[in-house]
Parts: sequence; C-alpha cells; structure tokens
Amino acid sequence: MPTWLLMIVIVLGSIVGFVLLWLTVAKIVRKLWHFPAPAFIGRFLDSGYRRSVQPADKVVSRSGISQGMKVLEVGCGSGAYTTFVARAVGPRGKVYALDIQPGMLAQLERKLRKPENRDIKNVELVEASAYGTPFTDSSFDLVYMITVLQEIPDRQKALKESFRVLKPSGILAVTEFFPDPDYPLKKTTVKLAQKAGFQVDEVQGSFWNYTARFIK
Ligand SMILES: C[S@@+](CC[C@H](N)C(=O)[O-])C[C@H]1O[C@@H](n2cnc3c(N)ncnc32)[C@H](O)[C@@H]1O
Repeated sequence: MPTWLLMIVIVLGSIVGFVLLWLTVAKIVRKLWHFPAPAFIGRFLDSGYRRSVQPADKVVSRSGISQGMKVLEVGCGSGAYTTFVARAVGPRGKVYALDIQPGMLAQLERKLRKPENRDIKNVELVEASAYGTPFTDSSFDLVYMITVLQEIPDRQKALKESFRVLKPSGILAVTEFFPDPDYPLKKTTVKLAQKAGFQVDEVQGSFWNYTARFIK
C-alpha cells in the first residue's frame, strides 16, 4: 500500500474510532446520570451541519405539522427547528416553545430577534417542565419533541402531560437521532407512547433518524 493511502486510512480510522468512542462514553454517562443537555450545547444543536443530516423539512413533514395548527414544542432547546415549524404553521398557527432551561430559551429568543427571523410573530417562549405545562386540557393540535423524550427522567409523566393538553385525535410526534447519546430504538419510543395511552399513526425515517407519530 502506498504511504499516502496508508496515511488516509490511519486518519479516517482515527476519526471513526474517536466518534465511536465518544458515542459509547456519552451513552454510558447518560445512562448513569440524567440531566438536561447543558445550555452551552445549544449552538451545536442549532447548526447548519446538524440540519444537513437531520433536515428540518423532513422533521416537519414526518411530524404532520401543517398550516394553521396550534403546536407545542416540548424541549425546544436553542430552537434548531422552531423557526421552521413557525413558518410551517404560518400566521394563522402558533408555536409554544417550552423548555425547562432559561439558558436554552435565551438562545432561542436571540435567534428570533435576528433580522432574518423578524417575520416570525407566532412563537411564544414558555419556561416550564414537560411534567406540568401551563396549558388547559385539549388545547393543542400537535405536540412534538425532537431528541428530548429520553432526556426526561419520568417519561410517562411527560407523555401523560402531552396527552392531557392535546385535543382529541391530536398528534404527538417524537423525533430521535442516533448521534444523540440518549437515542432510543423505534420500538422503545412506540412502547412508551402506547403505555401513556397514544395509538401509533406512522413511524417514518431510518434507523438513524426517525419520527414516530401518534394519535391521542
Ligand atoms: C438535546 S436537547 C434538544 C433540543 C431541541 N429539541 C433540538 O432538537 O435541538 C433537549 C432539550 O430538552 C430540554 N429538557 C430536558 N428535560 C426537560 C423537561 N423535563 N421539561 C422540559 N424540557 C426539558 C433540555 O433543557 C434541552 O433543551
């Protein structure tokens, strides 16, 4: 093998090895300790690179988000997908972006103030826990969570709260992404939602990146 080819193999092998090691260590740490993703990772979550591998239009269409809907985003983080959803529901719709960490909401607030997002007037930020939201029963068309559910220690409590605030036949959309240290298999997500009273509508996407949609 020529030296240049050997060098490429060594460099690529090191990168792949490092990524696998990081994922393994991160997954073990997350299994042992439950804590919300720290606010400083907000900038990595809200990156163009992430959306190139987990595209916003796919997340929106797989979730069943459409014009005029009143939507609750649980665990919005820095808002990597919030602006896309706000535009998808349009001026007749509304997005309530909820997160337990003020540091994450502050990043979304700054994002919404940017000139390119000044057209967005239908997002309201809510600092609250997924366990107890300040909304009345049966008030949302759709609740969605992107790489959030497994981060919440009592998932049943959070899912039951989503169930409560959804209108009859409302949609719950759970999106998961393999690089997330908390990533669960599709069947794990389906079992959790069914246990909370939801019926499976459709599960779309690959092993690595999927959205499971449920009906109340
Ligand atoms: C990995 S981040 C994902 C953020 C965003 N959904 C995204 O995909 O970029 C998970 C988010 O869930 C929030 N979170 C964790 N536990 C929560 C809880 N019990 N109630 C509300 N939000 C929570 C964290 O603060 C964090 O912003």
